[in-house]
Amino acid sequence: MAGNRTFTMIKPDAVAAGHIGAILAKINEAGFRIVAMKLTRLSAEKAGEFYAVHKERPFYGELVDFMSSGAIVSAILEKDNAVEDFRTLIGATDPSKAAPGTIRALFAKSIGENAVHGSDSDENAKIESDFHFSGLERF
Ligand code: RTP
Ligand code: MG
Repeated sequence: MAGNRTFTMIKPDAVAAGHIGAILAKINEAGFRIVAMKLTRLSAEKAGEFYAVHKERPFYGELVDFMSSGAIVSAILEKDNAVEDFRTLIGATDPSKAAPGTIRALFAKSIGENAVHGSDSDENAKIESDFHFSGLERF
């Protein structure tokens, strides 16, 4: 099972802009299976905890405000090589540098409001999945 799951969020900008369906279609077309999914909202405290690794970065305050500003879709996705393949599907953090056709190239507004999150390692995929979902919420 190691290496075949990742965690994602459709961020508040993309949810507010009505892109949930289009982003899920890209995820499906790329061959990911949905293991868990919910529409939810992070409190500022929870958003701060989720992105605690960035606490010392200059954009941390903005990131926490943004990630708690509205509804998100959180999900666990399954596919061979899930973490790496999902990072390829979403594209670079800065949408102006994201490859054409990637989710961020298509839907992100800016480096801060960049439509989706994707785990950066198998270890973080597990930590982030456990942060959002209980065992009973996974299928
Ligand atoms: P994510 O964790 O959300 O999947 O994004 P990422 O790995 O591509 O980028 P990361 O370096 O982990 O940064 C986390 C999120 O912080 C915001 N950010 N803003 N204003 C800025 O310079 C800046 N840099 C990063 C973005 O929302 C980024 O996705
Ligand atoms: Mg990251």
